[in-house]
Amino acid sequence: AHDIDGQLTEMLLSEEDIHAKLAELARVIEIDYADKNVLLVGVLKGAVMVMADLVRELRIHANMDWMAVSSYGSGTQSSGVVRILKDLDTDVTGRHVLIVEDIIDSGLTLSWLQSNLVTRGAASVEICALLRKPDAAKVAVDVKYLGFDIPNQFVVGYGLDYAEKYRNLRGVGILAPHVYS
Ligand code: PRP
Ligand code: MN
Ligand code: MG
Repeated sequence: AHDIDGQLTEMLLSEEDIHAKLAELARVIEIDYADKNVLLVGVLKGAVMVMADLVRELRIHANMDWMAVSSYGSGTQSSGVVRILKDLDTDVTGRHVLIVEDIIDSGLTLSWLQSNLVTRGAASVEICALLRKPDAAKVAVDVKYLGFDIPNQFVVGYGLDYAEKYRNLRGVGILAPHVYS
């Protein structure tokens, strides 16, 4: 029970895979946001690792702020109900916002969040997500900076949890069905 790696059926992405991809995305983001003082908005809690690694790759000025919006609790399925658990400290009026997320699953969280921030008067609201499950999409999300498309399986690690566990794995893996069934 203490060997958390042993509760995965397959490792999808290593720490190295993730860091290489974030470096690649950072090179594009640096160009797109040169002199724009980008506001990175991380979505707690899953996006903590992506934010920490992405922001340190950037060689431009970048502010950070955080929101907690939860679409579901400790289960494995999105409900579509989005609640703000913690709002931004920053006034986004006129700001160039880049939402940083770990994963686009149904897309409900990000489509809601993007329109919410547009409504507040941001100059632009784009999305950077490390992972996307194309086969789980319920609504289309226009993601500008995407790391990897992955299969529609229950993945954990690098910020992604199952019942608040596994976030501290360095890579991303598929959770063994016996853990949640
Ligand atoms: C997960 C994940 C994304 C969202 C994606 O967060 O981190 O934020 O779900 O799902 P969706 O595309 O179906 O909306 P969760 O609500 O589990 O909160 P957490 O980040 O604190 O784990
Ligand atoms: Mn999340
Ligand atoms: Mg979660």
